[in-house]
Amino acid sequence: TVLVVDFGAQYAQLIARRVRECQVYSEIVPSTMSVAEMLAKNPKAIILSGGPASVYAEGAPAAPAGLFETGVPTLGICYGHQVMARALGGTVENSDVAEYGGTTVSVLAPGTLLAGLPATQAVWMSHRDHTSAAPAGFTVTARTDVIPVAAMEDAERGLYGVQFHPEVLHTEHGMDVLRHFLYDAAGCRPGWTMVNIAEEAIEAVRARVGETGRAICGLSGGVDSAVAAALVQRAIGDRLTCVFVDHGLLRKGEAEQVEKDFVAATGVDLVVVDAADRFLAELAGVTDPETKRKIIGREFIRAFESAARDIVAEREGPVEFLVQGTLYPDVVESGGGTGAANIKSHHNVGGLPEDLQFGLVEPLRTLFKDEVRALGEQLGLPAEIVWRHPFPGPGLAIRIIGAVDRDRLAILREADAIAREELTAAGLDRDIWQFPVVLLADVRSVGVQGDGRTYGHPVVLRPVTSEDAMTADWARLPYDVLQKISTRITNEVREINRVVVDVTSKPPGTIEWE
Ligand code: XMP
Repeated sequence: TVLVVDFGAQYAQLIARRVRECQVYSEIVPSTMSVAEMLAKNPKAIILSGGPASVYAEGAPAAPAGLFETGVPTLGICYGHQVMARALGGTVENSDVAEYGGTTVSVLAPGTLLAGLPATQAVWMSHRDHTSAAPAGFTVTARTDVIPVAAMEDAERGLYGVQFHPEVLHTEHGMDVLRHFLYDAAGCRPGWTMVNIAEEAIEAVRARVGETGRAICGLSGGVDSAVAAALVQRAIGDRLTCVFVDHGLLRKGEAEQVEKDFVAATGVDLVVVDAADRFLAELAGVTDPETKRKIIGREFIRAFESAARDIVAEREGPVEFLVQGTLYPDVVESGGGTGAANIKSHHNVGGLPEDLQFGLVEPLRTLFKDEVRALGEQLGLPAEIVWRHPFPGPGLAIRIIGAVDRDRLAILREADAIAREELTAAGLDRDIWQFPVVLLADVRSVGVQGDGRTYGHPVVLRPVTSEDAMTADWARLPYDVLQKISTRITNEVREINRVVVDVTSKPPGTIEWE
């Protein structure tokens, strides 16, 4: 394990992912963790992340006491580099000139981290403070025109610091620097591969569920719950039952995908609950977004709970476990706790039925989304499932602005299917994070189609790029793709006579319209 100590950087997760790309397992820990707790995790190396604070600011997070005396090879990045310098007797200064963005470092002495790399390199920086003098015992290995200590190391003590961000792609040789630290300085070996990850995860599920235990899993149609279910199915076979609640708010072909493709690929025991009538009856006439969400969340729990009760009643033994597709970013963001307490209310099954006492099985809780996709491929799931864009639990209900009914759902379903088809045809699926199509059901505008006047509805195309849905940018889809989508939607979906594109980033807009 490599520990990434989080000093409040937006980069801690990125660092952890990059370490894993070097095929070394990494975990994020808070900077408030004691060194004893860190050492209990038996780390091969420690990386200190960047952070927004100035080391001199009041309340700035400090290095845990004794961190630099553990003998565990340690790399400080940006703020972590300054923390290291300051703690060991170097000098950190506030510069007149900040460095944000791309700059060039000059190598003074390659040392371990910069061995074999060019004498000048493009790196990415984001700092105002900088280390002006390295602590005694350190060799300064690189500088820039602005700062004298862009990189330093004390190989004897296994301590390394870089002011630039090796985890950022704009740093030309960032991955080389990380590999040098992990492999050469810390002696890590690349063993964290998908084959191993899958095998270990399957073993862990077997150990948790035991020889006879039973589990259920709510499928949302999304990649996370699908991969979690496929993995648990590998581990315990038909002792897993999956429940898929079809709430009638899905996109074209989605229910079929879960019912046919997923079962074909995994052989999983699947119970489909057709709850569309009930959901639509409850949603009738409701226009307020939060009310829609609450109704859907409530009905979801109800449907899932009753299916779970049936399954519990039918099986010879009790069903002790509930499988969830919780991912590592959720775990980190909710404080990195180990317990089962932190389930988001909108997570796959829409919240846990409290009176059903299940142990949780969360086989993906150490993985990032891209790793889950790779794992899904490793487990033989079809590309349509593995590379599916995220889709919200409340489904098309929050993409119809206005009340939801069957006719409106049918209109949106057609328009959405066309947009998705054309995106796929253009080969852009993997460049886009998500591509909501939104029906402005209460808005009408005048158009002309054929020789006649029309008075139809607009749809909004909302293609976005994102890393994690926390922030997003509107995707610059090629004009010819937009044009094709627009022409097809207005030709093929009678009720729609206008197609518009949403060019708002998040913030200020959210990805979904409701
Ligand atoms: P927003 O609209 O807040 O969405 O920018 C961020 C991401 O979350 C998805 N989303 C949901 N997912 N249940 C879900 O499972 C929900 O209630 C929900 N609301 C939004 C959205 O599609 C985007 O990926």
